[in-house]
Amino acid sequence: MHLRDKVVIITGASAGLGAQFSKDLAAEGARVFGLARRTERLNELAADIGPAFTGITCDITQEERVQDAIQQVLETAGRIDVLVNNAGLGKFGPADGVSLEEWNLQMDVNLKGVFLSTRAVLPVMKQQNADTGFGGHIVNIASVAGLMGNPNISTYNATKFGLRGYSEALFKEVRQDGIKVSCFYPGSIRTEFFDEAGIAISANPMTPEDISSTLVHVLKTPDNYLISEIVMRPLRPGG
Ligand SMILES: NC(=O)c1ccc[n+]([C@@H]2O[C@H](COP(=O)([O-])OP(=O)(O)OC[C@H]3O[C@@H](n4cnc5c(N)ncnc54)[C@H](OP(=O)(O)O)[C@@H]3O)[C@@H](O)[C@H]2O)c1
Repeated sequence: MHLRDKVVIITGASAGLGAQFSKDLAAEGARVFGLARRTERLNELAADIGPAFTGITCDITQEERVQDAIQQVLETAGRIDVLVNNAGLGKFGPADGVSLEEWNLQMDVNLKGVFLSTRAVLPVMKQQNADTGFGGHIVNIASVAGLMGNPNISTYNATKFGLRGYSEALFKEVRQDGIKVSCFYPGSIRTEFFDEAGIAISANPMTPEDISSTLVHVLKTPDNYLISEIVMRPLRPGG
C-alpha cells in the first residue's frame, strides 16, 4: 500500500512508539490520527508534525469514547486505511503481589482497548474492500512477552499472549475481506514504558525508530503480500 494520503489511526500516540510511528507515517505522506489520554502531549506532537497529524483525546478502554473517536476520523477523512493498536502498559512484580486494579488496568488497555478499536474499524474496512478490492491493515503491537512467560510479568504475559491469539484469529478471519492483520513481538525498546512497569530497562535496548522503520515497511508491502508476525530484538541487550 502506498502511504501517501492514507488515513492512519494510532492508539497510544502521545509517547514512545506511538509518537515515533506518527512522525514517520506523516513523513510518508499519511494523514495520522493519534489517540491517547494526554491532550497536552498530543498537542505538542501536532505542533511538531504539522497538519498531517490530528490528536484525539481518548481513553481506549471506554467503549463510547472509542466509537466517538473513530466516528470523528470518518467524518473528517472519510475512510480508515490503517489501525495501529499500540497503546499498552505493564505493571511488573510477583504474581501474589498483583492488585486487582493492576490486573484490570493491563487487561483493559492491552486487550479490551484493542478489541474496541478493532471492532469499530472492521465494518469500515470491509466496506472499503467491497468498494475497491482492498480493505486496510491492522497492526497489533504485542511483545516478546506474548511468546514466552517470565517471572514477575505474569499479568503482562497474559495480556500479550491474549493479543497474540486475537491477532492470529483475526488474521485468518478477515483476510478474505481484504484486510491485513500483522502482529509485532518486540523485545526492550527505549521508551517511558519502564517508568510505569517497575523494572529497569536493559542496557542496550532497541529504539522506537527501529520498530517504526519496520512498521513503514510492513505497511508498504504489495496488497497480496501479508507479513502476519514479526519478532524484534536488540542484538546485544546487555551492551
Ligand atoms: N517499551 C518496550 O520495551 C516494549 C516492548 C515490547 C512491547 N511494547 C509495547 O509497545 C506499546 C507501546 O509502548 P511504549 O513502549 O511506547 O510505552 P509508552 O512510552 O509508555 O507509551 C504508551 C502509550 O500508551 C498510551 N495509553 C496508555 N493507556 C491508555 C489508554 N487507556 N487510552 C489511550 N492510550 C493509552 C499512552 O498515552 P496516554 O498516557 O497519554 O494515554 C502512551 O501514549 C505497548 O503496547 C507496549 O506493551 C513495549
